[in-house]
Amino acid sequence: MEVFVVYHRFLAALVAGLCLYSGATFAATLSARATAGVDLQARLKEVEHDPKLSESLFKMGAKVATVCDSCHGQGGNSHRTDIPNLASQNPVYHLEQLRQYAMGQRHDPFMEGMIKAMNSDEKVGMVMFYASQKVTHKPIQNPALVTRGKVLYESACQQCHDEEGHGDEKLARIAGQQPVYLNAALKRYRAGAGTRLDARMAANTKKMTDADIDALVAYTMSLQ
Ligand code: HEC
Ligand code: HEC
Repeated sequence: MEVFVVYHRFLAALVAGLCLYSGATFAATLSARATAGVDLQARLKEVEHDPKLSESLFKMGAKVATVCDSCHGQGGNSHRTDIPNLASQNPVYHLEQLRQYAMGQRHDPFMEGMIKAMNSDEKVGMVMFYASQKVTHKPIQNPALVTRGKVLYESACQQCHDEEGHGDEKLARIAGQQPVYLNAALKRYRAGAGTRLDARMAANTKKMTDADIDALVAYTMSLQ
């Protein structure tokens, strides 16, 4: 039964994603449920202070997360270098991104459809589940590039993302993140175009060359 429900949701989400992709406004139908005035962050705090509720939402979250596996990998370790890991992501940051996709403040046709098909407790349980998963590390391919990236990171990134890049409630975990995704995220901030803009990130990437970005990506991805 539960498997059926999850599968059904997955289909609904895919349909939503495809409709958005083709420019149709399927959004209105599903958004009422996802954004019906529930303060997700307040709900997360409430759940974290209630061990029983926390356990049951965590279990539900782990189940719901299986619909994300096809892209973000089992336990949030993506197999695709262009799709970000969700493992060990800060739950407060993660929920905020889900809110942004649902509200159209951050765009990705598949993500928007997925998120609109979920209710608030499923989202809360899911971010708790992903936060508990460890990032799998890949071997370093080009040590010289990593060393060059470290110098750049220490001078331009560390002041906000700190030495470890583990993130916090406002900042994504970037340590061990997927390289093509990191590259695209940095270039998007540098270009200052599209929906995901951030003045601080734009300022910090403005003077970076593509080669600098390659080095930063190699270093960030190597962080444990
Ligand atoms: C069809 C593929 C696909 C599926 C399924 C999918 N995602 Fe994504 N997801 C993406 C892509 C592609 C991106 C990168 C989009 C971007 O650059 O903004 C992304 C980005 C994200 C981000 C932003 C990560 C960050 O570091 O800021 C979060 C959070 C996320 N997805 C959560 C989920 C959750 C939770 C599910 C399951 C309910 C899910 N995704 C299912 C493709 C998918
Ligand atoms: C002044 C503070 C600050 C500095 C310095 C900074 N960042 Fe950021 N970074 C942020 C903030 C804030 C965000 C989140 C913005 C958002 O949500 O779109 C962010 C987001 C990111 C992301 C997106 C993560 C994701 O999962 O989508 C990457 C990658 C990143 N930073 C890498 C870097 C690198 C590499 C540098 C050094 C060149 C750097 N940052 C310097 C504040 C900073």
